[in-house]
Amino acid sequence: MIEAMKRAYRDRACYLGDPDVVSIPDKLTRKDYARQLASAIDRRHATPSTQLAGEIRISTEPDHTTQLSVIDRDRMAVSLTYTLESEYGSRVVVPEGGFLLNDEMNDFAWLPGVTDATGRIGTPPNQVAPRKRMLSSMCPTIILREGRPLLITGSPGGRTIINTVLGMVVNVVDFHMDLRAAVDAPRLHHQWLPDRVKIEATLARAHPETVAALRRMGHRVEEDESQGDAHSIWIDPATGDLVGAADKREDGRAAGD
Ligand code: DON
Repeated sequence: MIEAMKRAYRDRACYLGDPDVVSIPDKLTRKDYARQLASAIDRRHATPSTQLAGEIRISTEPDHTTQLSVIDRDRMAVSLTYTLESEYGSRVVVPEGGFLLNDEMNDFAWLPGVTDATGRIGTPPNQVAPRKRMLSSMCPTIILREGRPLLITGSPGGRTIINTVLGMVVNVVDFHMDLRAAVDAPRLHHQWLPDRVKIEATLARAHPETVAALRRMGHRVEEDESQGDAHSIWIDPATGDLVGAADKREDGRAAGD
């Protein structure tokens, strides 16, 4: 049944639309076509859905949100979180600028007035309106101590970004972890709605007793494979030494000269 569902929904995507406008092939209701689809089902192994795409182009472009943390010899620091969203953003290049414009329209409230338990937020401040920018979770961050940079950090990850950066700041400033440990430390995320906490699997598996305790307290805990990509720099306040740590969750590296 699962394999039949996959194929039926693939055909729905391929062929179905308003019949006043779209010509829908007769084969969809023919037995021989059903038999042809059925004969291609491997009864022992799941067929990856993308293998069924046929002429439908499946985008392989991931989300393009990237964190860069930079500091130069004069201690000028930059934290940059740069987002296109997926598929080359709006696919518009700025003439003579040479860079793409992003497409973050889905960061506006989707349905004005509809805020629900699944996490859709429809409250007034972020409703679409002319000349308005959508709400962003991006928070490139430079923490200063006595006016000098101590930590340069930030992350991609949509709404999880805020909590990823919170974790970085708490790990370094409050828990005095070294930068490598702070970046590697498992992350967690709660965004009010839906009412569940996502915990990176490494943390959940290493501390089942904590997860069990959280559940007893009434938290809905779910495992998440990976959260964010917080490439960061820490500046030793005592010596001024620079420490860079690339987050191993996605890609990137630390470099200096
Ligand atoms: O501005 C925002 O909050 C989102 N457009 C960022 C998107 C993002 O981080 C996707 N990354 N994985």
